[in-house]
Amino acid sequence: MKIAIIVGTRPEIIKMSPIIRECESRGLDYFVLHTGQHYSYNLDKIFFNELQLPQPRYNLDVGSGSHAEQTGKMMVGIEKTLLQEHPDIVLVQGDTNSVLAGSIVAAKLHIGVGHVEAGLRSYDRRMPEEINRILADHCADLLFTPTENTKKILLNEGIREEKIFVTGNTIVDAVYHNIKVAKDSIDVLKVLDLEKNGYFLVTAHRQENVDSYERLHSIIKGLQLVHKKLSIPIIFPIHPRTKKQIVKFGLNTDGIRFVEPLGFLEFLQLESNSRLVITDSGGAQEETCILNVPCVTLRNNTERPETIEVGSNVLAGVNAEAILNAVEIMINKEKVWKNPFGDGNTGKNIVDIVIRKYMC
Ligand code: UD1
Ligand code: UDP
Repeated sequence: MKIAIIVGTRPEIIKMSPIIRECESRGLDYFVLHTGQHYSYNLDKIFFNELQLPQPRYNLDVGSGSHAEQTGKMMVGIEKTLLQEHPDIVLVQGDTNSVLAGSIVAAKLHIGVGHVEAGLRSYDRRMPEEINRILADHCADLLFTPTENTKKILLNEGIREEKIFVTGNTIVDAVYHNIKVAKDSIDVLKVLDLEKNGYFLVTAHRQENVDSYERLHSIIKGLQLVHKKLSIPIIFPIHPRTKKQIVKFGLNTDGIRFVEPLGFLEFLQLESNSRLVITDSGGAQEETCILNVPCVTLRNNTERPETIEVGSNVLAGVNAEAILNAVEIMINKEKVWKNPFGDGNTGKNIVDIVIRKYMC
């Protein structure tokens, strides 16, 4: 049995790392194909280095571009590679253009598709990710879904029950493993001159937020309002997409401290020691829930409603006053919730299922 693992962006490398590690330690015949959707050192190679992952066998180097341009280039490269390697199953993770390209190509070559993090829905089709996840789920032969709730979503869309496996989310494995590694190897608070529980951590990069002048302006205004009212430092490791848009729109960002995107070990440490996280990231909503840190989400919907249900996260949207209100509510929140995304054995469970289904 041969497994192809496709990755393309920062969160896919992080969330596939427990599966790659599991394939490696069991001596399975597998290879990693990187589409090259992310390519800057601190969105890409830093994660292979920090997480001690083997280098991808293939890198398609597709780079940035419009959705069609980027996805099309990936499809051509993925098809060539799969025809050459003949894997039995292709594993994709999440909802990026790399996931869409990998699922469609593999399905049309009649190669098995395993979708890790299946069943998430924001019900907002203006998000490119929503289109990607729906299509990937409907191409998939094995759907590894994080919770009972996401399983129900898949069943309601007519996906057959025997294809769906509630496995938890591999982010729990990645957090549990790397928070220990981080503790022993780095002291990010010292490096950035911050105090435990003495700062707010921010990330924002969603296309619908940062490519719109009104929404990005309003988010920045909200952060400035929070800083002014609460006098707590705001630290913002900035995604290149967001940096480009702030420059393009000429926004005033006084009161916000930007740093370059961080490695996973540094980011996890920063997250776990922060007073609260303000974000539009999917992964950060999950990680804060796992790390017992309150989260304010800069969106009007989420495909991670479990975080809202357990009380770790609230949706603030992007209105400046609403952001301040949500922060004031969440900083006083008792941190007593239970992580709904699994016990940290998701990678192992997924590889067990793949072996059971494909190893003859
Ligand atoms: C992509 C995913 C998004 C995911 C995010 C993770 C899609 C549609 N979007 O969004 O779901 O949450 O990755 O971070 O697949 N850039 C660089 N260096 C890089 C990569 C990008 O500078 O290594 C800049 C380029 O200016 C590029 C922009 O960031 O145009 C956006 O990159 P892209 O991969 O298209 O989308 P993301 O916003 O990163
Ligand atoms: N992350 C990181 N460094 C940073 C910001 C985020 O390592 O400077 C990690 C974070 O811990 C999470 C993942 O990147 O695991 C989330 O990626 P992103 O927010 O880009 O994408 P999304 O999860 O929204 O798809």
